[in-house]
Amino acid sequence: MDHFQYKNDELYCEEISCVELASQFGTPLYVYSASTIRENCQQFLKAFSKHPTEICYAVKANYNLSVLKEVFSLGLGADVVSVGELERALKAGVAPHKVVFSGVGKNRGEIERAISVGVAALNVESLSELLLIKKIAEETKKKISINLRVNPNIDVRTNPYIATGLHKTKFGIADELLLEVIQHIKNHPYVIVEGLACHIGSQILELDSFEQAAQRLKQLAYELQTMGYSISRVDMGGGLGISYDGKDNPPSISQYGEALFKVLGTSGLKLYLEPGRAIVGNAGGILTRVIHVKKNKARHFTVVDAAMNDLIRPCLYEAFHEILTVRNNHDDKVITDVVGPVCETGDFLGLGREIATPKSGDLLLVKTTGAYGSSMASNYNTRPRAAEVLVSGTSVKLIRKRESLESLWELELCE
Ligand code: LLP
Repeated sequence: MDHFQYKNDELYCEEISCVELASQFGTPLYVYSASTIRENCQQFLKAFSKHPTEICYAVKANYNLSVLKEVFSLGLGADVVSVGELERALKAGVAPHKVVFSGVGKNRGEIERAISVGVAALNVESLSELLLIKKIAEETKKKISINLRVNPNIDVRTNPYIATGLHKTKFGIADELLLEVIQHIKNHPYVIVEGLACHIGSQILELDSFEQAAQRLKQLAYELQTMGYSISRVDMGGGLGISYDGKDNPPSISQYGEALFKVLGTSGLKLYLEPGRAIVGNAGGILTRVIHVKKNKARHFTVVDAAMNDLIRPCLYEAFHEILTVRNNHDDKVITDVVGPVCETGDFLGLGREIATPKSGDLLLVKTTGAYGSSMASNYNTRPRAAEVLVSGTSVKLIRKRESLESLWELELCE
């Protein structure tokens, strides 16, 4: 359920018409449904209520401060991967003890800041990082709790660019090297290893991959416990997939919970999760206006005012996003490529889509763009990043202004 629906053949986000949103805020426009975000958070909280669990929202999926506030106000924590995300999360009111800091390239400044604010854990991804943390902890004489991120060498069925659980990827400490790495902090007074972590990939639609990873982490946790390490938690990362085309059939959040409980339910280990997409993905759409319609013998093109700089996913991962006409007119349909104004053939939002024949000025909604839409946006072709609005029932809030052209060259130095 995502709260984008037609009423009298006009598309609404919650109780607000997309036609009104476009005329009030302009296009392209990121539109988010607050109710959808809340419902997704609540589903996670409910599904995991029977097991000690911390749900740490992956800030990278959508880092708008108002979105973060919404999520943290319901009691979720944060998974961050840079000091920028950490500061954002703190600004939006997250409790530091509910923050896990992941990422393969944390630098000294980031580690020092994480220690000083008192995050729940640094998820450590290499021996090099571990030794740096050790050095900092010894210098500052401050205790820091860590999880070791394990790379369990699990092959998940998803786009290769977002599969992270194989040894050929840069992520985590290969499971076979774990014992060698952990010895460097055995009985260390300041660096306390409390858990194991993993993140095997993103947009995962099968539960067996998560179960396998949980099994592997549990087994390693037990091994370490028998060796005297007090491992009390496992962080299973994020990765739960969502439906982009209405046809793929992702597991529900509660089925995901059941799958993890099956493995970890009686393990005595506290569970951490880092969902991003499953919290915000279906809560967002990009509202865009048709600029031109053109055709040649081979193709029909609908040129819209949103582009690959607003949504890189189709170009980068060949990702599918459903595209709806805001007016559900039942006129003739056409098969069209919905493309942006950017000067690249890869600048498309959807290819070969059957929609009601569009004309200049019509509005379209590109669906399921709440995750990795605005957060991966750029200024390519000197295009200002689009405004963002958050709709809740009959009210709408502007949560990020449209960038001005001047702001795009403000930091450039030119005599
Ligand atoms: N935790 C870690 C350590 C991660 O690296 C990620 C995502 C997450 C959690 C959240 O994963 P999620 O629940 O959202 O799947 N830009 C790509 C997705 C990249 C994901 C990177 N890491 C996309 O648009 O599909």
